[in-house]
Amino acid sequence: MKKLIVINGPNLNLLGKREPEIYGDKTFEDYLGTLQSKHNDVKIDYYQSNIEGEIIDKLQEVGFNYDGIILNAAAYTHTSVGIGDAVKAIEVPVVEVHISNTFSREEFRHQSYISPNAKGVILGFGLRSYDLAIQSLIE
Ligand code: DQA
Repeated sequence: MKKLIVINGPNLNLLGKREPEIYGDKTFEDYLGTLQSKHNDVKIDYYQSNIEGEIIDKLQEVGFNYDGIILNAAAYTHTSVGIGDAVKAIEVPVVEVHISNTFSREEFRHQSYISPNAKGVILGFGLRSYDLAIQSLIE
């Protein structure tokens, strides 16, 4: 069985409550249930942290023994050289995901320290972006 992990960065623990006009009204935990029942032949682990170093620790921990990582580094996408370096350092393919279309938003969201070393980037499809990323890793 393939083993994937979703890693969510800062403020994504507030999904459902946070700016629902941009991020929707579902919690990630709810959506994870939908993902797990849709992909019942894949193990999908989940980790969320608001702390940059914890995200780096998790990438290092899973980065040599999983089949794929779905990473939404949220605001750290646009600021974190450290998370970008961690993505470069590990062997497991990383698909960068965003709920919103970051290119249709403020200019500071157009920069990503993850993209140069990601296998691919999926953004702008709401929570479905995670599903599309999983499909890209298992098909
Ligand atoms: C986000 C986009 C980021 O710019 C923002 O800081 C987030 C969420 C998204 O999923 O659309 O927190 O990564």
